[in-house]
Amino acid sequence: MRKPLISGNWKMHHNHFEAIQTIQRLAYALSSSDYENVDVSVHAPFTDLRSLQTVIEVDGIPISLGAQHCHWEDKGAFTGEVSPEMLAKLNVSLVIVGHSERRHIFGESNEDINRKVRAVIAKEMTPILCVGETTEEREDGRTLEVVEKQLEDGLKEVKTSDVASMVIAYEPVWAIGTGKNATPEDAQEVCKGIRAKVENAWKSASEQIRIQYGGSVKGINAPDLMKQKDIDGLLVGGASLDPDEFSRIIKYRLLD
Ligand code: PGA
Repeated sequence: MRKPLISGNWKMHHNHFEAIQTIQRLAYALSSSDYENVDVSVHAPFTDLRSLQTVIEVDGIPISLGAQHCHWEDKGAFTGEVSPEMLAKLNVSLVIVGHSERRHIFGESNEDINRKVRAVIAKEMTPILCVGETTEEREDGRTLEVVEKQLEDGLKEVKTSDVASMVIAYEPVWAIGTGKNATPEDAQEVCKGIRAKVENAWKSASEQIRIQYGGSVKGINAPDLMKQKDIDGLLVGGASLDPDEFSRIIKYRLLD
């Protein structure tokens, strides 16, 4: 049985004071039964991580600390970058890798993304590898082909046991921040394809690997998305900035 993982991607929002307030309000809105049903992570900007680590540890909040990206080397002359080793020291446990904004705005290649996936695993953190097609690719009927290639390249030389404990986030590029989410059936179709691809290449990992859907998730659409057989969680951008709305998503069972 895969435990759902609901992750908030704050992107470039919330300074460290706002981050402290947000996580405290989120923790206040959640109860132990929520954490029994769902794993929760928050992916904050780098400048917030040290403050959030303190609040999480001092207050004993069962939310996993996450980052939004990193470099693949431990250290070196890479101005502006942060290493997986530095994140691990802050007790970061999950790192988003290959988000479409990193791929499209900052030009990250599948090769860079694969290096990052392996570097994150090497520091005993869990990568959330993002995959997803653009509007044109969907209209050309190439969704699965694109997603399968992103998986193949992103997971090159990753051991089956490491693939099994990873997270894949299916985020159609056209659904991110647009208010146009994929229908639960469309999202399920692609997530099923992702699991089939994992089964094909990494066999036993396919039963354990968690697959999230992301793209304009809100309290109102979370229950139907979470009902889908191959959707094991959600990667939430805009709606995760507001602790009330994010807690509604985490409590999706109650909204149904
Ligand atoms: P959104 O972002 O929920 O604001 O569409 C999702 C994401 O980019 O992870």
